Amino acid sequence: MTVSEELYKRALEHIPWGTQTNAKRPIRDFSGVMPFFVESAKGCRFKDVDGDEYIDYRLALGPVILGYGYPGVDEAVRAQLEKGVLFSMASPLEMELAERICRLVPSVEMVRFGKNGVDANASNVRIARAFSGKDKIIRCGYNGYHDWFSTGIAGNGVPKALSDYVYIVQYGDVEGLEKILKRDASSISCILSAPYDFNEDTSGEYPRALRRLADEYGIILIFDEVLTGFRLSIGGAQEYFGVRPDLTSFAKAIANGFPLSAFGGKRELMRKLDDFVLTATYAGETLSLAAAITTLKIMEEEKVHDHINRMGRRLMDGFSEIAERGGIEVKIGGFPVASYFLFNYAKDETNKKLQVELNRELFKEHVFVYDRWFISFSHKEKDIDETLGKFERALKRCMKG
Ligand SMILES: Cc1ncc(COP(=O)(O)O)c(C=O)c1O
Repeated sequence: MTVSEELYKRALEHIPWGTQTNAKRPIRDFSGVMPFFVESAKGCRFKDVDGDEYIDYRLALGPVILGYGYPGVDEAVRAQLEKGVLFSMASPLEMELAERICRLVPSVEMVRFGKNGVDANASNVRIARAFSGKDKIIRCGYNGYHDWFSTGIAGNGVPKALSDYVYIVQYGDVEGLEKILKRDASSISCILSAPYDFNEDTSGEYPRALRRLADEYGIILIFDEVLTGFRLSIGGAQEYFGVRPDLTSFAKAIANGFPLSAFGGKRELMRKLDDFVLTATYAGETLSLAAAITTLKIMEEEKVHDHINRMGRRLMDGFSEIAERGGIEVKIGGFPVASYFLFNYAKDETNKKLQVELNRELFKEHVFVYDRWFISFSHKEKDIDETLGKFERALKRCMKG
């Protein structure tokens, strides 16, 4: 038994799931090859508890945009630690970060902070309901674990009655969305949706349709940019697609892994917070604020997005060449900063089987990836080229098997 497996058995005794995060639960298809526990991480690599080093393309599920233990960020956090973590009154860092975000994301005129993506979404929805005086929402995709975003599943502890207040639409289903709006717009406060949900459609047509419909029916548009914010571009997917929402939720890439989220948007909407109490003890915790200020500063000054786009493109081009050399049918797409490599044979079953097999072989090569290839500022040409060598070997074995 590996150390990973031993620890997992132990963890299950006292921690439901053995971990805190759904996407960090061991996956049955990968048993025997997937590491379950990480000991340490630096740059674009981590070491697991068995002492093996992996090149990481999951990046803590998105947040680590500069790289693990990024020097500038960690120095800022250490310096702040000397001054204090949490005070009896606000820290000026709150204001400094708010000013920076409002400058980087033009749709955001005022902003507040939280700790998880779900806090940001829940707060934005609350503002939209308070401002509009309407209770229902339309939402799309995964927005976090709170009751409002978990309706319709029996036995998960969410009051059944809440389902009457939440419409769920599939990403891209403009027709379905319009049907709901035609029927019930007068009771709907907001549409909450990621502007891009990492599917195959990178055209931006859906976020544009959301803006059009929200305007037509007088509904507040909230972009869930928890995953896309500060990743697709420094101003998020809204900058990339040129669509302005009324409110936005940010989290993952904002502080290079330190726990911080942000929600904000139009001044007239955010001013609604003057009318009721929306508060959190740890939202002004200073280490994460210092991390976010420095992360965003480095992003701007060092043109991080140029680099991660270049590295991502190098990886995608490498995938294409390797697949072509092997005569393998594939679809390679998404954005260079978070791309996908999928088999593209006639039978879905064949594609799924190959996908699992390739991922297993990649774990054996000590490349850590699942689903998306996230790129950080610490992935340099040599890391990408090393990965492509490992990828080609993994793919060859996968196709033979
Ligand atoms: C688009 C989106 N929204 C919201 C969330 C929830 O974020 P958190 O887990 O930080 O609450 C996630 C998490 O993966 C997400 O991808």
